[in-house]
Amino acid sequence: MNVDPTTTPAWARLTELAARGTPDLRQVFADDPGRVDRFTFAAADLHVDLSKNLVDDDVVATLLNLAREVDLEQRRDAMFAGEHINVTEDRAVLHTALRKPADARLEVDGQDVVADVHAVLARVYAFAEQVRSGAWTGVTGERIRTVVNIGIGGSDLGPVMAYEALKPYRHDDIECRFISNIDPTDAAETLAGLDPATTLFIVSSKTFGTLETLTNARLCRSWLLDGLGSAEGAVAKHFVAVSTALDKVEAFGIDPANAFGFWDWVGGRYSVDSAIGLSLVLAIGPERFAEFLAGFHAVDEHFRTTPLESNVPALMGLLNVWYVNFLGAQTHAVLPYAQSLHRFAAYLQQLTMESNGKGVRWDGSPVTTDTGEVFWGEPGTNGQHAFYQLIHQGTRLIPADFIAVANPAHPLKDGEVDVHELFLANFFAQTKALAFGKTADEVRAEGTKEAIVPARVFTGNRPTTSIMAPELSPSVLGQLIALYEHITFTQGVVWGIDSFDQWGVELGKQLAQQVTPAVAGDDAALEQQDASTRALIDYYRRHRR
Ligand code: F6P
Repeated sequence: MNVDPTTTPAWARLTELAARGTPDLRQVFADDPGRVDRFTFAAADLHVDLSKNLVDDDVVATLLNLAREVDLEQRRDAMFAGEHINVTEDRAVLHTALRKPADARLEVDGQDVVADVHAVLARVYAFAEQVRSGAWTGVTGERIRTVVNIGIGGSDLGPVMAYEALKPYRHDDIECRFISNIDPTDAAETLAGLDPATTLFIVSSKTFGTLETLTNARLCRSWLLDGLGSAEGAVAKHFVAVSTALDKVEAFGIDPANAFGFWDWVGGRYSVDSAIGLSLVLAIGPERFAEFLAGFHAVDEHFRTTPLESNVPALMGLLNVWYVNFLGAQTHAVLPYAQSLHRFAAYLQQLTMESNGKGVRWDGSPVTTDTGEVFWGEPGTNGQHAFYQLIHQGTRLIPADFIAVANPAHPLKDGEVDVHELFLANFFAQTKALAFGKTADEVRAEGTKEAIVPARVFTGNRPTTSIMAPELSPSVLGQLIALYEHITFTQGVVWGIDSFDQWGVELGKQLAQQVTPAVAGDDAALEQQDASTRALIDYYRRHRR
C-alpha cells in the first residue's frame, strides 16, 4: 500500500517537534556526554557520526516510527526480492543483485539473475585480462593504451567518478577518457592527441538509443577509420559496447562477441557496478573490481539486515526527510575531503535528483509534501575558499555530509609536516565550526571592534554528518555508493514516489527532435515554434558563421 506520510501519527508528532525548535548543539553536547556514542554507527568500513545533526532522541525515535508507518522495511524487502517496485515501468529494481556473490541465487520472473550477472562478469573479466595483458591488440597489432568510454548520464557519471576515485589503482599503461556531451567540443578535445592504433572505444548505453551517445560513437568511428586509413576489421578491434539492447549494438556494426549485456532491472544511475563499469575494470583489473562489488554488497547486507535503530542508510535518509519536510532545507551538500572524489557530487546529483525529483506518487496521485532536495558539492578544502561562507553565515539551512579517509593515496610531506594531516585538520575543524559556531563574547574576547562583532559571529547549529573510512579503496568506494543509493531509496519510500523511473527527462528530448529542423534552416518548422523559441533560433541562424 502507498501510505501518505503526512497522514501518519509520526508525521503529526514530527510537526510538533519541529515547532518546538531544534536542539542547541552547544547545549546538548555539554549536557549529554553519551551523545556521540549513541549517534555514531558503523556500516561495513564506514564510520558515521550523526551527532552533529539537529535531532534529539525524541526526533530520531519518531523518524523511526515514520519509517515503520510507511512500511520502509517491507518496501526494502520487496526491492531485494525483485518485486516490480518500479511501477511506472513495471520492472524489478535489482542493482543489489549485481553485487551478490557467485554462490547466491535470486530467481526473478523465473530466472536466476545472479547466475546471469556472473556469466557477464566472467566475460567482462576475461576481456579485461586480454586488454590489460596486451594480448588484445588494435588492428595494427599494437596494445591498447587509451580506453574512451562514450556514454551519458548513468553510462558516464558512475564510470568517470569511479575511475577518478580509484586512479591510484589503475594499470600503468592504460588511461581512460570519457566523452559524454553532444557538444562536439567534448569529442574533439577528448580525442586530441590520441593514437587511433592504441585506442579502444566502449559505447555504453543501456538503451542504445541515446542521441548524444550514438552521435559521439559515430564521430569516434569516423575518427578511427580516418586515422587508420579505413583498415579492415578496425571497428571490431577498437569498438566494444555495453547495453541491454544487443540487437541495436549489432546494427551499429559492433561485433556481438564484443558486446556486454545487462538488464532492464538495472537503472542507468545504478549501473556503474554492471558491465557499464567496463572502463573501470580495464583500468583497475578484475580483482579490484570484485572488491568494489564486495563493498557495495557489504552495505547492501547492512541495509537489508540491520535494525532500523542502527541502520545507517535508513537513518541518513530519515534525517534528510527531517531537514526537507520539517526544517525547510532545500539543498544538501556533499563535501568529500578526498580530491579523488572530485566527481562524487556530480555522480550523486543524478542518483538522488533523477530518483527523487518527482511530483507524483507511485499510485499516480500528487505528492503530499516536498520531495527531492538539490544535492551539490565540491571537495574540501577547495569549497572552503569558495562557497562555505554561505554555509557558515548565510540564511539557509544546508545539511552537509563530510567524507574523509584516514590514509591518503599519496602520503606527501611538506618538510616535516604530513600534508594529509593538514588536510584532515580542516575536515575536523569545519564540522566543529558549523556545529558550535562562535559567540559575540568570544569574538569580543579576540579584541574585535564592537562595530564589526556581528559580522564575525558564527551562529553554529548548522548540521553535518561525518563519514570516515580507513582509505579510499575499491571496497570503500562501493560502500559509499551503496550508502547513498539506499539513502535515496529510504527518502523515496517515505515520500511514496517511484525512485526508479525518470519520465521528467523525456519532454526535452522530444522537443529537441522537433526543433532540430528549424535550427537547420527549415522555415516552416521555425514558424511552428513559440515566439521566444523562434526569436532565439532566429538569432542563432543570423549569427552562425
Ligand atoms: O535521459 C536520462 C537517461 O535516460 C538516464 O537515466 C540514463 O542514465 C541516461 O539517459 C543514458 O541512457 P542510456 O544509458 O540508455 O544511453
